[in-house]
Amino acid sequence: MKLHKLASPLGSEILDIDLSRPIDDATFRQIDDAFSERSVLVFRDQVMTPAQHVEFSRRFGGLEIHVLKQYLLADFPEILLISNVVENGKPVGIADAGQQWHTDLSYVEIPSRCSILYAKQIPEPGPDKTYGDTCFVSTAAAYDALDPEMQKYLGTLKARHSYLKRPHVRAKLSEEQKKQVPEVIHPVIRTHPVTGRKCIYVNESFTTEIVGLGKEESDALILQLCEHCQSEQFMYRHKWRVGDVLMWDNCSTQHLAVADYGPEQARLMNRTTVRGTAVF
Ligand SMILES: [Fe+2]
Repeated sequence: MKLHKLASPLGSEILDIDLSRPIDDATFRQIDDAFSERSVLVFRDQVMTPAQHVEFSRRFGGLEIHVLKQYLLADFPEILLISNVVENGKPVGIADAGQQWHTDLSYVEIPSRCSILYAKQIPEPGPDKTYGDTCFVSTAAAYDALDPEMQKYLGTLKARHSYLKRPHVRAKLSEEQKKQVPEVIHPVIRTHPVTGRKCIYVNESFTTEIVGLGKEESDALILQLCEHCQSEQFMYRHKWRVGDVLMWDNCSTQHLAVADYGPEQARLMNRTTVRGTAVF
C-alpha cells in the first residue's frame, strides 16, 4: 500500500488498493493509522457496490442512519444520498449539504467520527476548472499555529453549538422539530481521541456562543477562530472524479462544499457516517 500526501497539513491518497475486495487486518490498520495521522484519505478509481461501501465503512465503527429517511438508499439505510438530481419531480438526495464551513454534527452531544463519500456522478469539468470541489482544513494544524498564550486561554473555554444557527435552516423547521435539536456545549479546544492532538472545535455553521463572554466579545472570537482555521495554509481542496472515495475526520477537520454548479450539472454522492465518541 502506497501513500501520497495531498497537502502539507492534511490529506493523503492511498494508491494500489481496491476497496471492493476484503481488506486484511494488517492493511486495515495501516489505513486506520494513516487516517488518524492525515485526517483526510482519498482512494481513486474505486468501483464498489453499496454493500461493499457499508462493509468498508463498518471497519471504522458502527454506522449512523440519517433522520431524513426519504434520502436513504433503498435496502441500504446506512447510505445517504447527497445529490442535486431530481427524479419524477422529487429530489433523490440532500442537495444543499455543507455549503458553509462546518464540522459534521457538532451540534449533537456525540458527533460522528467520520464520513465516507463515494462519488457516483460529478459535474462535467470545464477546460481549466472543476465544479463542486470540497475544501478541507486541519483544525489540528490551525491549533498548533496559535501562540501558546492563546492556546492556554482557549483551553479554558467552552462553546455552545446549535443546528438552528443558520436562518435558512431555522425557517424550514416547525416549532416541534426545533425542540428535537437542543443546543449542546463542547470545549473550544477538543482533543483527538486517537492522536491526542488538540483541535480548534468552533465552526461558522453551528457555533453560536462562547460561554461566559459578552455577545460582542464572543462573536469576535468565533469569527477570529473561524477565519484562522479557514486559512490556505491549513487547506486541501479536493477536485472530484467519478469513483473517488474520500473520508474525513470530524474532530481534526472542517469542510466546505463549493456550490459553483447549476441544477443541469448532475452530482451524486453516496455517504456513510461512522459513529463517534464523547468530546473532550
Ligand atoms: Fe458536512
